Amino acid sequence: MQAVKLKPNQESVFASDVSRYKERTKSSLKMYEHAKRLMPGGQSHNARFFEPYPFYAAKAKGKYIWDVDGNRYVDYWMGHTALILGHSPEVAVKAIGSQSSNGLLFGSANRYAVDLAELVNKVVPSAESVRFCTTGAEATMYAVRLARAFTNRRKIIKMAGGWHGYNSALSVGVSPPYDVPESAGLVGDDDKFVKLAKFNDIEVTKQVFEEDSGDIAGVIVEPIIGAGGVIPANKEYLEYLRTKCIEVGAILIFEEIITGFRVSLGGAQEYYGIKPDLCTLGKILGGGLPVSAVAGRADIMELADVANKSKTHRCWIGGGTFSENALCMRAGIATLSHLMRNRKTIYRKIDKLGETVRSKVDAIFSENGIRAKSTGRGSLFATHFLSENQESISSPADVNASNKAAAKHYYFSMIARNGIFYLPAHVGAISTAHERTDIDDFLSVTEAYAKRISRLE
Ligand SMILES: Cc1ncc(COP(=O)(O)O)c(C=O)c1O
Repeated sequence: MQAVKLKPNQESVFASDVSRYKERTKSSLKMYEHAKRLMPGGQSHNARFFEPYPFYAAKAKGKYIWDVDGNRYVDYWMGHTALILGHSPEVAVKAIGSQSSNGLLFGSANRYAVDLAELVNKVVPSAESVRFCTTGAEATMYAVRLARAFTNRRKIIKMAGGWHGYNSALSVGVSPPYDVPESAGLVGDDDKFVKLAKFNDIEVTKQVFEEDSGDIAGVIVEPIIGAGGVIPANKEYLEYLRTKCIEVGAILIFEEIITGFRVSLGGAQEYYGIKPDLCTLGKILGGGLPVSAVAGRADIMELADVANKSKTHRCWIGGGTFSENALCMRAGIATLSHLMRNRKTIYRKIDKLGETVRSKVDAIFSENGIRAKSTGRGSLFATHFLSENQESISSPADVNASNKAAAKHYYFSMIARNGIFYLPAHVGAISTAHERTDIDDFLSVTEAYAKRISRLE
């Protein structure tokens, strides 16, 4: 096949899509200009910004999200992948409604947290014990602290290109180039205690272990790396990490903020059949409201029980003011219960839609002479445009070598022209609210895009 090189920025086409977007999102532009005076960048999450400015949402329901100009989009970002049942699903809305006049935040131990912990314990293989918190960044921070406390060691191996929230301890080697700090304001010491491994590369990871094996507290890995390109780990890679951690006495942490309850009810650990020592959970866990957790082996989690422990024996991890708040717990219980009751039909449906997107998008681009490779697993997907000499995408390094500008443009074009919201260069997530007809639309839009782009050459 003749490889068609995409022009690095596809500038003329991009410019026409930007004009169209601006035409359709005048109120969003106004709001952006206003919001910038009130909030840095006009909003509160870096990932939500895309060029030339993000649209501002006004409401959402099911698979749809509407902006302040009244444009309706079929949403494949789905609240940072959290909304497996779509926007405002009835089960969660009902539970929230019935709780809302009976206490939002008890600020005390409460029955609903016990109920949710019981569900997590039932479905997530490694979750012998659970500590709830509010955001994924907190959960990963606590997981690392637990690993260090349990092993009495300092160093954590993480994947180059792995993103674990705005947790200072792991804000190392997230985006290329990996050897410079991720942000101003980080104290250099954090990165002294984080070692970068190459995802899916056993040889490189082996060397990282060898450099420091006596001081490795743990390894944190997303079994399907999200922000690094939606790339599933090879099973052998995870098996290697499992075996090696046992061998050197390190804690294996599966970072399942995205994959938990998504790639199967028991998350990626169930999907791969590999049990970590600890895992982090979030997103789907709260049914659209903020809940996260660190969970795992009871003998490790027990360090978080501070009763009768001295400062040197406890691992002081939080929870936080809003942890276990009744509203979020009820939304989580309703969502997990629904997933448990309908697990067969739900995962069969969304996995099949995901598989269809991945295979057909690649075929469409290929028929139009464009080398693209979709990655993901189950209901998660992303498409990468291969550079010359690239054949596959198996690590964040491969994604960095691909034509990232082309990927951004593909998804932006859908927002600008087709009423499809896939946050450019992020993760696509299918929910139970999506149907085969939505996927068919996604594919015909992709086909029109591929034809438009291939004509550029
Ligand atoms: C894999 C992963 N870990 C952690 C986080 C951080 O979660 P939160 O945004 O809830 O802090 C994210 C956020 O997208 C994530 O994708």
